[in-house]
Amino acid sequence: MEIDVNDRKKRDFVSLSEIPGIDKILQPSPEGKGKINEAKVRRLYLQASTQQWFAPQRIDFSAPVLMDDTSVEVWRKFMLIFYSLEKMGLDTIAHMTSKAVRKFESNDAAYYLAAQAFDEARHVFAIENYLKRLGSPPKYDRGLHIFSQLAAMGAYRVENWLFSTLFSENFASAFLRMARESNLDDQGKEMCRSLLLDESRHLHFLHTVLPDVMDRLSLLGKTYVRTSQFFIMKITEGLARKFDNDATVVGMNRKHLVEDAFENVKLAYDNLNLPKKFLKFPKIAS
Ligand SMILES: [Fe+2]
Ligand SMILES: [Fe+2]
Repeated sequence: MEIDVNDRKKRDFVSLSEIPGIDKILQPSPEGKGKINEAKVRRLYLQASTQQWFAPQRIDFSAPVLMDDTSVEVWRKFMLIFYSLEKMGLDTIAHMTSKAVRKFESNDAAYYLAAQAFDEARHVFAIENYLKRLGSPPKYDRGLHIFSQLAAMGAYRVENWLFSTLFSENFASAFLRMARESNLDDQGKEMCRSLLLDESRHLHFLHTVLPDVMDRLSLLGKTYVRTSQFFIMKITEGLARKFDNDATVVGMNRKHLVEDAFENVKLAYDNLNLPKKFLKFPKIAS
């Protein structure tokens, strides 16, 4: 039977309140040690489970490409970068999950992070197929590998990974929001809309666990994480500058994109009640 990508009804998610006995189901795993807010993380796992989407049902990867040649060229470039970053995110979550679960001593964190890894796999898969549709088979850009090295290597790996993810998820979300307002075609916009739903849940997870992570981090750990964050943001800001003209072609603005990402990281820090001086932001070129 052919899948009807336009059947909106198939996109409706089950709400947790509709599930019989949900109060009991929401009770955290009794094995948890309370190092993170397990009730909230468990709820997020359940939400993630009900919000799974099937990329070929959402996005018609066989639809003809009607964008002009110059725009297609730019979108190939942007989606290749996005593909590489998402693939890096998938690889990183795959090797950091066991370390984070051990640190948190939480079954609920294991459930949740497994669901997030599946989200990231779906993102890589969706962008891969979108790129094929644009006539550009995906290829991982090794030049971007520095981000993965900065985010999940060295000391304080779990903490560093989580704080790096706070930035990368905010940057991805800013990009997706801007792409939805650009000249991207309907299939691309649908992909961005669907990815955003997942990325906002990923940010929710970070907002849930980071206050506890920060509480337990030593002064040396805080300094280490802060320095690593600064370099990740500085490198991102520098790289983004190379795409000023491309962004303009497709109706995006590089400076606004970086500002939006930094602003949301700042807001996250405010909401987390983290010390304001914790994060230093690099200057954004005009
Ligand atoms: Fe993602
Ligand atoms: Fe994500």
